[in-house]
Amino acid sequence: MKIRNIFLGGAVMCLILSCSSHASTKGDRIEERVDSLLSLMTLDEKLGQMNQVSPGDFEALAAQVRRGEVGSILNYVDADLVNKVQKVAVEESRLGIPLLVARDVIHGYKTIFPIPLGQAATFNPELVEEGARVAAVEASSDGIRWTFSPMVDVSRDPRWGRIAESCGEDPYLNAVMGTAMIKGYQGDSLSDPTAMAACAKHFVAYGAAEGGRDYNSTFIPERVLRNIYLPPFRAAVDAGCATFMTSFNDNDGVPSTANKFILKDILRGEWKYDGMVVSDWASVLEMVNHGFCKDGKEAAEKALNAGVDMEMVSATFINNFKQSLNEKKITLNEIDQAVRNILRLKFRLGLFENPYIVTPQSVKYADEHLAKARKAVEQSVILLKNDNQVLPLQPDIKTLAVVGPMADAPYEQLGTWVFDGEKEHSQTPLMALKAMYGDKVNILYAPGLSYSRDKNRTQIAPAVAAARRSDAIVVFVGEESILSGEAHSLTNLLLQGEQSELIEALAATGKPLITVVMAGRQLVITDEVKESDAVLYVFHPGTMGGPAIADILFGKVNPSGKTPVSFPRTSGQVPLYYAHHNTGRPANPVEMLIDEIPVEAGQTSVGCRSFYLDAGSRPLYPFGYGLSYTTFEYSNLTLSADKLASTDVLTVTLNLKNTGRYDGTEVVQLYVQDKVGSVTRPVKELKAFQRVDLKAGESKQVTFSLPVAELAFWGLDMHYSVEPGAFKLWAGTNSEEGLTADFEVVSAK
Ligand code: BGC
Repeated sequence: MKIRNIFLGGAVMCLILSCSSHASTKGDRIEERVDSLLSLMTLDEKLGQMNQVSPGDFEALAAQVRRGEVGSILNYVDADLVNKVQKVAVEESRLGIPLLVARDVIHGYKTIFPIPLGQAATFNPELVEEGARVAAVEASSDGIRWTFSPMVDVSRDPRWGRIAESCGEDPYLNAVMGTAMIKGYQGDSLSDPTAMAACAKHFVAYGAAEGGRDYNSTFIPERVLRNIYLPPFRAAVDAGCATFMTSFNDNDGVPSTANKFILKDILRGEWKYDGMVVSDWASVLEMVNHGFCKDGKEAAEKALNAGVDMEMVSATFINNFKQSLNEKKITLNEIDQAVRNILRLKFRLGLFENPYIVTPQSVKYADEHLAKARKAVEQSVILLKNDNQVLPLQPDIKTLAVVGPMADAPYEQLGTWVFDGEKEHSQTPLMALKAMYGDKVNILYAPGLSYSRDKNRTQIAPAVAAARRSDAIVVFVGEESILSGEAHSLTNLLLQGEQSELIEALAATGKPLITVVMAGRQLVITDEVKESDAVLYVFHPGTMGGPAIADILFGKVNPSGKTPVSFPRTSGQVPLYYAHHNTGRPANPVEMLIDEIPVEAGQTSVGCRSFYLDAGSRPLYPFGYGLSYTTFEYSNLTLSADKLASTDVLTVTLNLKNTGRYDGTEVVQLYVQDKVGSVTRPVKELKAFQRVDLKAGESKQVTFSLPVAELAFWGLDMHYSVEPGAFKLWAGTNSEEGLTADFEVVSAK
């Protein structure tokens, strides 16, 4: 035993130091090390690497690790314990293979950034990348080297609670923001001790769960998968995303965790992915509930056969694979391939060289992290309405009523997935308004309701009384953190509790009313918008929500966020997204709505169009919408050519002028419609965007380079190509308003 240990110690040491005799590239060296280590492993040790556990008792975990039964742990965040269990893996297990420590670090670790939907609203990938970097630096200080983020599920249904974790309804926006997060988490090199391996999830179509019910089935045909749901994942592969996670849903009857077509044919075959694939939490065993496998053993076999490398928590791999091998249900080759993918990741992360925590603990809540989080909120806030320019608040506002259950709710502003964020560090709007502007205005705080679902009206009267004594009212409404996120779906998207009544009562005072909604999804706020003079929408902003919102209210910061989702007028209008197909009977720009229909109207009197009698067809606010305190004028849209080949690059230029009184930032958006296709196409699709800073009165020329190849799609013959023909282009301030131009693609290759 001792001799063997010495020998193995030497062998592993050689692997660690990578004592290769010939010159080779870094990638080749890692493959050599993977193969050498694999050749030393017993079957039990291989199955151990494929097993991810969520530990309870330390001693029980240590015993498992010592026996080589664990490849990865999740939800272990005490730095001392992480180091202690890593020491057991490195020094006491036979081969000394380090553990991979994972955690859901979704929008920050300690310093909490806006929820991903809010980050998407910034339309600023550089800022999103910086946020992910901050998260990686903080989380790696507790030994976390693998996060289950980004979630790049295209999400078009706000009933689904997990829309909060997404970058919204658009495949391109999800791809850009997912890429930014991956770059931020992984840094320049995965082997940097502050890098975290990213995980693109949930592969695939989870965001389309039927009716927005979490974990539910999807029925997405291959072409829609390829044109809408797969592109952000493809972008993740291109960005070097280290891992992928399967999704809980079954698509057309096949649970993703056993879907060979997506995991093998597409991910490994077409995309040549060499990263690691993990199941979702117990999604292997849950294939028994799906009615897809008769027991855990069959589920494990189907998952491995389909291409899952590591199993999260349900332990069916480790418990069954010896027998499965004997029965030839799986092959040793399949196991070796999975273990290779796992070891490759551990080598890439430099875990063999640096198994222990290197980042100092003091990085948590560092000033520069808080400053970045604050900037992210500033850019994520969306100004939806600003009648009579009630915002920013002017010096004649001497007394300000601050009302509402979200004004001073340190936990609720953090949003979903904040295992590690601490509400004690949250800076709420009330705190910030008092601290930063308390010398300029007299603040009268009266919550009106204790929490978003509060149905007790007794505090409304004192809030109205405070409002009457003020020059303006800011009411903070929305939803508590618990109302969005995993397994938190809703059918009713209206404001909960008595919040609408509170707003109605405040509006009745006649004082200027500014409504700030803080939520995990786009809520239905049709009535509240009517009652308010101004509306700011803030997807749960995280730790630094307060100061950013206070600066926006007082005009130190000019809002520039844009909606990453369409806002519905009624709950029944969802799913609602801008990139829909035209249909044979598109809606009229103005429809006759239910109250206008005469009694005993004839069947066709309202027309025969695709719309709702009680909500029309249009959203309350379209995708890409957001106002500024200043105004922008678009002019001179010019295309470099009106006939292009599929290999050309189209150059689009326009002039943008800041025509208002404030410096500001506009997100210029470029949409394209392929007018006629071999299959019907979306009415428009986002192809590019740019944030443009302009001083008051300043003009700039804005240029986009759009490779025609980016107009390709999967057509009737399931072939990916640019189809020749007529295209229309919009460049503008949101998905409904813009300058237009036409061009033609004259040949496709
Ligand atoms: C979620 C994943 C998450 C995992 C681990 C699952 O329930 O669907 O997104 O990463 O748990 O916490």
